[in-house]
Amino acid sequence: MVAKMADYAGACHRAALRADPVGSNPPFALRAGTWPRAAHGSADFRRGLAYPTVIRSAIWSKIMSRFWSPVVHSLSPYVPGEQPKQDGIVKLNTNENPYPPSPRVLAAIASATDRLRLYPDPRASALRETIAAHYGVEPEEVFVGNGSDEVLAHTFQALLKHDAPLLFPDITYGFYPVYCGLYGIRYEEVPLDAAMSVQIADYRRPCSAILLPNPNAPTGIGLPREAIGRLVAEHPDQLVVIDEAYVDFGAESAVPLVAHHDNLLIVQTLSKSRALAGLRVGFAVGQRPLIEALERVKDSFNSYPLDCLAIAGAVAAIKDDAWFQETRQRIMANRQSLVRALSGLGFEVLPSVANFVFARHPSHRGADLAARLRQRGVLVRHFQKPRIEDFLRITVGTEEQCSRVIALLRGLI
Ligand SMILES: Cc1ncc(COP(=O)(O)O)c(C=O)c1O
Repeated sequence: MVAKMADYAGACHRAALRADPVGSNPPFALRAGTWPRAAHGSADFRRGLAYPTVIRSAIWSKIMSRFWSPVVHSLSPYVPGEQPKQDGIVKLNTNENPYPPSPRVLAAIASATDRLRLYPDPRASALRETIAAHYGVEPEEVFVGNGSDEVLAHTFQALLKHDAPLLFPDITYGFYPVYCGLYGIRYEEVPLDAAMSVQIADYRRPCSAILLPNPNAPTGIGLPREAIGRLVAEHPDQLVVIDEAYVDFGAESAVPLVAHHDNLLIVQTLSKSRALAGLRVGFAVGQRPLIEALERVKDSFNSYPLDCLAIAGAVAAIKDDAWFQETRQRIMANRQSLVRALSGLGFEVLPSVANFVFARHPSHRGADLAARLRQRGVLVRHFQKPRIEDFLRITVGTEEQCSRVIALLRGLI
């Protein structure tokens, strides 16, 4: 048994090196999709946990520490996209905004440094009021956190842990199964249809809650607000969480539905459309009992998740609507040109309403293209996962960055 595990560990290590030839990610930080094909049939693997669970608990955890809490042995942490240390890389792998944040954000952060001696407002009232005014809700219907990842984490713990499974798409944001592992939440993955779209009807099955990103990641495909309304109405006794990380790039937000549905929670971020990934600010909008649940978890975890610089910067970002509108329009225009150019090179490009596109070429493997682009200084995201292993997820960059990736691809195919 141990020899077999060691074999798998070796195969996994080799798979990791193939996926990441310069070895920027440690081999034990593998995703389920990089495990050997032989493992793909197991129930644990389908839950996204198989080999990380087996290998870590049987080998790594023995080696690494006998002091770990039991849950740590089975964790399969999320592996974020690479953040290169060197300059001059065209970074189209983590869906950051290619344009800078509003100059008003920088000014607001500079003036908030006067308050660094003090703890920040634990309720972040100024930010909640600003978000509430912007979206036409009450401040008590807004929760804020240290990036939408933290808001989602609290949502999983506060609202998504029940006996029946949580449902989310089989191809979606890779952090969802990770939170399920962390909090011991049962889940089922609902397959996207053949066109890689979410079908609301596929969610008519026993569950405790439903979680959908809209637009979905990494496909970029969005659902109209009317479909979200139908989903929420069809499941009056289940919470529906919509992760709108990319909604500002052409999709329809479901925030206006919150007033009519006590089972709807919307999560958004300032990382993408407001160019503040480094500041770590996310928020949720929902009716008061939902927000109260999030506050309870937050206040049992960290009273001050947002520091005073983040609160000041985020307030300024939400208030500078002109800057927001201009940059998101530019990104949408760049997306259009990028899609046109990729299609011209023979790529199949999924219809994106996000700040990234998901595309594959009929005669080139996704892993090869990603590796070759990387050798030439352009990072895009590739997922070694069934159904999507030939796709590249390319963040919409500046005009120049998009031209660069197209010029390189033209030389490669
Ligand atoms: C679908 C989705 N939701 C949430 C997040 C988290 O964003 P952040 O924690 O930066 O707010 C991401 C990040 O890439 C994402 O892709």
